Amino acid sequence: MKKILVIHGPNLNLLGQREPAVYGKVTLEEINAKLEKLANPNSVVLEIFQSNHEGEIVDAIGQAKKNQIHGILINPAAYTHTSVAIRDALLAVSLPTVEVHLSNIYAREDFRHTSLIAPVCSGQVSGFGEESYLLGLKALINLLK
Ligand code: DQA
Repeated sequence: MKKILVIHGPNLNLLGQREPAVYGKVTLEEINAKLEKLANPNSVVLEIFQSNHEGEIVDAIGQAKKNQIHGILINPAAYTHTSVAIRDALLAVSLPTVEVHLSNIYAREDFRHTSLIAPVCSGQVSGFGEESYLLGLKALINLLK
């Protein structure tokens, strides 16, 4: 049984009402339910966590090994573009990690074109709406096999 930590960064709790033209109408609860549906038949247990606070995300990553986590699926949201601390936490635990984004960050404002997180991940999925999460989880499950 593999355990995957799913991290949703800031403002993703507002999905469904937040900029629907960019992020769609799907809610975080609906995304989480679809992730669970994909994880269960693959003998994967998800630990799902959303936070609007950088330090809480750093703490969750830092405790991953102690919590017997095998891999991390993360949408760092706005922290993608700013957080050296989240990048360093991922380097510190050195677990297989996949970064996902609902929107195509490379088709948006210049400041979104740089991810500080992607270079320390196994890979990134960006631009497929909720499907980005499912593709990312599939890739991570395969990496852990
Ligand atoms: C996002 C893209 C980020 O640039 C933005 O700050 C978000 C969401 C996405 O999933 O498309 O909050 O990570």
